[in-house]
Amino acid sequence: MGFSPLISIDRSIMKKSHIKESGAKNWNDKFIKSNIILYLGDSKNVLKNIPSNSIDLIFTSPPYADRRINTYGGIKPDKYVEWFLPIGEELLRILKPTGTFVLNIKEKVDSGERHTYVIELILEMKKQGWLWTEEFIWHKKNSYPGKWPNRFRDAWERLLQFNKTRKFNMYQEAVMVPMGEWAKTRLKNLSETDKRRDNSKVGSGFGKKIENWVGKEMAYPDNVLHMSTECANRNHSAVFPEKLPEWFIKLFTKSGDTVLDPFMGSGPTIRVAHRLGRKAIGVDIMEEYFNMVKNNLETILI
Ligand SMILES: C[S@@+](CC[C@H](N)C(=O)[O-])C[C@H]1O[C@@H](n2cnc3c(N)ncnc32)[C@H](O)[C@@H]1O
Repeated sequence: MGFSPLISIDRSIMKKSHIKESGAKNWNDKFIKSNIILYLGDSKNVLKNIPSNSIDLIFTSPPYADRRINTYGGIKPDKYVEWFLPIGEELLRILKPTGTFVLNIKEKVDSGERHTYVIELILEMKKQGWLWTEEFIWHKKNSYPGKWPNRFRDAWERLLQFNKTRKFNMYQEAVMVPMGEWAKTRLKNLSETDKRRDNSKVGSGFGKKIENWVGKEMAYPDNVLHMSTECANRNHSAVFPEKLPEWFIKLFTKSGDTVLDPFMGSGPTIRVAHRLGRKAIGVDIMEEYFNMVKNNLETILI
């Protein structure tokens, strides 16, 4: 997509916070040269500025229902789907047919049970036209220990993958992992079954030929990502580690593609996208976070 200079401040927010449009233009040029566009505003309005079918990857973690009421968010769990769908509609419009949308989300516990708004959101997004292609799990390796009367500590979050079509871009080789120690013993003495294609007994159409992996150094990963939460204080209450967007940016985009985070927070998606040579668009409704990302990026952009 062409990156023409944009006034990147949502006018409804501008009135509220008395931000001067001219002030925005000075820094904007530098960012546009670096293929980064940052917007301060509500994604519901801001995304309307983005052309249809122009984004390769949307990677984001939206405000969680009822969380962080004192800073942002605070959307009631029962209203969450209603709040998200107009934004989902815009995301569907601007994503390329070959693109992918990854939504990092986890339902909260409400009155002693897990709320169902994430499940309801998936169903409504399917009605909106999205394909729910896959679900990845982020296993938080360093979750805080604790004791709860009726459950254990929460050590994982969902990463829901949505697509517009079944033919989306995926660069699987970019996220291959070392074969690991198991291969040394498992591949040493192959059985007869290991030497032929062993088709799935449940008729899924999948099959494996273990012999194919002899001598290989690298394998494809599974859909559970083991990563620690971000410990460095990035002055935001809900950061995810840069490794998380990095993994998905490598998997679903190539150099020069465009990545969008419509709830950028402290900006990890934007920084990683830029570092990996992708174009990046970030949106946040809070002036504090918008400025944090802008100031942080300004120090690394030439
Ligand atoms: C869960 S946080 C994102 C954290 C981010 N992934 C990080 O690692 O820093 C969600 C962000 O969405 C922003 N936000 C909430 N409602 C928004 C809206 N309607 N439009 C744009 N941003 C919004 C919040 O200010 C917050 O920074």
